[in-house]
Amino acid sequence: MSQAGTVRALEDVSFSLEKGESIGIAGESACGKSTLGLSIMRMLQGGKIVSGDILLEGESILNISESEFAKKHRKKNVAMVFQGAMNSLDPVFTIEEQFIEVLKQHQYDGDFKKKISEMLSSVGLKNNVLKKYPHELSGGMKQRIVIAMALLLGPKFVIADEPTTALDVLVQAQIINLLKKLKKDGMSIMLITHDLPIISEIAEKIGIMYGGKMVEFGTAHDIYKNPKHPYTQALLESIPSLRSKKIPKYIKGNPPSLIKPPEGCRFYDRCPQAMEKCKKDPPKFKTDSGYVLCWLYE
Ligand SMILES: Nc1ncnc2c1ncn2[C@@H]1O[C@H](COP(=O)(O)OP(=O)(O)O)[C@@H](O)[C@H]1O
Ligand SMILES: [Mg+2]
Repeated sequence: MSQAGTVRALEDVSFSLEKGESIGIAGESACGKSTLGLSIMRMLQGGKIVSGDILLEGESILNISESEFAKKHRKKNVAMVFQGAMNSLDPVFTIEEQFIEVLKQHQYDGDFKKKISEMLSSVGLKNNVLKKYPHELSGGMKQRIVIAMALLLGPKFVIADEPTTALDVLVQAQIINLLKKLKKDGMSIMLITHDLPIISEIAEKIGIMYGGKMVEFGTAHDIYKNPKHPYTQALLESIPSLRSKKIPKYIKGNPPSLIKPPEGCRFYDRCPQAMEKCKKDPPKFKTDSGYVLCWLYE
């Protein structure tokens, strides 16, 4: 809810992910990407899920109590690196104190020092960062630290919300390599970003979000080689390329309001291929590897 009314931040989202598989979630800002991650974590602030289901290892996480979810799943099965988290490390505590706090919160009963050391080395950092305060570290180091914190309890599934945004390209590459390594170790990853090329580095599945809906879902191969939704096509054409001389096209217009979303297809007023029937909500049409919400494929 907001003062202006109920925001329907997310509708018509469906996908599945196997162990060790990664999904990239892409779309313009405010299309509902973070809301999707927070829904899986059951951490929607002031929001609620009104229909549908979320299954973790085959079990619904919406029908269990908050305490059961916290005990069984949060941080243990699924953890999230929140958008902008590296900027919300507490400025008055050392990195070590902040790691210890997380372990205490979860009643970790092993050797704290050993665990923290292990996590730091898994993200390519040394113990010398432990006595430092957040302001003494670079953006890339802070991002590694928040990733390490999310991984402390050994989750099988990690949701990384814009983990490379605001980092320079070299550090971006380091973070992507880190995610690739985690994936190799068997972790499932949901990588949320507005940056499609970054997704191609690690994800075998892609969900394209627009105006609170997942308008297309499929394998990365199909989405890149044969994008079906006009929005996906436009998103791909808007990527600047160093190698090609093609000028990237930007998508004219603005995304829809989620307080009063337009009836029918939400991309209607920006879509170069809009037809009369697009004023009606498009059903889900099956594609080779997923689905598309678009009347062109009726
Ligand atoms: N708790 C909330 N109350 C009201 N509106 C919200 C809340 N959370 C998200 N929204 C709105 O939902 C939409 C999607 O937000 P978000 O998931 O953060 O988008 P993205 O991560 O794709 O940028 C935005 O319009 C945002 O303003
Ligand atoms: Mg977001």
